[in-house]
Amino acid sequence: MAQNEDNLKEIISHAKEYGFVFPSSEIYDGLSATYDYGQLGSELKNNIKSYWWKSMVQMHENIVGIDAAIFMHPSVWKASGHVDAFNDPLIDNKDSKKRYRADVLIEEHIEKIRAKINKEVTKGLKRFGDDFNKEEFLKTNPNVLRNQAKIDDIENRMRETLGKEDLEGVYNLIVDLGIACPISGSKNWTEVRQFNLMFSTELGSVSGESAKIYLRPETAQGIFVNFLNVQKSGRMKIPFGIAQIGKAFRNEIVARQFIFRMREFEQMEMQFFVRPGEEMKWYEYWKDQRIQWHNRIGLGEENYRFHDHIKLAHYANAAADIEFNFPMGFKELEGIHSRTDFDLKQHQEFSGKKLQYFDPEINENYVPYVVETSIGLDRMFLAVLSSSFKKEQLENGSERAVLSLPPALAPYKVAIMPLTRKDGMPEKARAILSSLQADFNCQYDEKDSPGKRYRRQDAIGTPYCVMVDHQTLEDDTVTIRDRDTMLQERVAITDLSKIIEDKVSMSKLLK
Ligand code: GAP
Repeated sequence: MAQNEDNLKEIISHAKEYGFVFPSSEIYDGLSATYDYGQLGSELKNNIKSYWWKSMVQMHENIVGIDAAIFMHPSVWKASGHVDAFNDPLIDNKDSKKRYRADVLIEEHIEKIRAKINKEVTKGLKRFGDDFNKEEFLKTNPNVLRNQAKIDDIENRMRETLGKEDLEGVYNLIVDLGIACPISGSKNWTEVRQFNLMFSTELGSVSGESAKIYLRPETAQGIFVNFLNVQKSGRMKIPFGIAQIGKAFRNEIVARQFIFRMREFEQMEMQFFVRPGEEMKWYEYWKDQRIQWHNRIGLGEENYRFHDHIKLAHYANAAADIEFNFPMGFKELEGIHSRTDFDLKQHQEFSGKKLQYFDPEINENYVPYVVETSIGLDRMFLAVLSSSFKKEQLENGSERAVLSLPPALAPYKVAIMPLTRKDGMPEKARAILSSLQADFNCQYDEKDSPGKRYRRQDAIGTPYCVMVDHQTLEDDTVTIRDRDTMLQERVAITDLSKIIEDKVSMSKLLK
């Protein structure tokens, strides 16, 4: 754990040093859980957005994208249930004065028991080698069975108490499990309370005429209220989807762990409208599609896992998270939710407008069901950054920090460098720069020794460095250095564009 926390600290300081992420309003000592994306961070973020948007909208005939306003009519949040039910159960430790989400404390306790099961499995594997039958082992090993029974019992109590909003029951569960505060180590807890996560503000400036409005806590509602506008204007036929990327705001109780949990963040959401009764088929389809999207980027399939929700949100009949192996361990990266017809029906009731679809294939009018995919852009950014950050020992005894970012997502695709600032090399390098600039985000770098320049590009994840040297002036060839292998190859300037394109193209990820 301590090692992982150190790892996160290193990533945070690397992200700041190289212009990826800065604490917000830093000259005023920052604002808690708020961050700004710097010159390289905004490039990386835009590339992630583009990969998502292209894959969702451009690669699906039946999905279109919108960009709805952050402010919405206050009734939207009454209808969606957020005013009454968008709460987190929170509990304070009286000694450390730290505040926690009660459900997260219990889930972390379950994870500790699960780790014991995994330890037994590892021991079994060691003992039985190739003869090890994991399934059989999980069904018969007494230690595994005892721990699994504990997990089942806790999950049942959690489902029951949280489902009924029985806050005393949640408190009793924490006490019965002997959960201690990770900071103070004490079990001196307050009662569990509900806390609404929406930020509100006032619309209109004249006293007495103002109305309370909210900053949207999810982008999804902007899609639901536009369902008919898009369906009719786009002549969309069910099944079809509406996608959106945009800011969302939540007054998180426990906002920490860098950009993992912020009060202002960005979501990439897609609502897929389907025929009632077909939602489970589409739910499975989208789970599969989304994990494929992740796997194609190449952060390592072992870094992802699915986690089915125990406590379903008020609108869902099935829900799963895609969790990623962040420096703090496996945590939620994306949610896939079967939201039934809850949202459209609620908006129908609150607005008095029909939100139905006439299905010509079955000759019926109905309120569509919805399967949603919802990923936090900032969490995806952290997943990419944290899994790409490495410190490597080199043969000459030195160390390099490298960001082995997926090339299609890297802020700069290529750095163009003259070996020296003499003999017409800068002019030649600038000519190459202007021939590549329209197709790739390039950086020109002539300061310091080549070794230092390579280290700088490694640290910001640039897949290729192109060096203009004496030979270039004679035969129009350059060396091209690969970030990951550090190998250099001499190639013709005329071949550069194709070589770079082959490596950094996003279309390969999309096909
Ligand atoms: N429309 C459904 C919805 O909003 P959610 O599970 O509450 O579902 C979806 O949020 C995703 O948004 C999460 O999986 C996470 O990646 C991201 N997210 C949620 N709260 C966040 C926060 N405070 N900071 C950063 N990302 C957050």
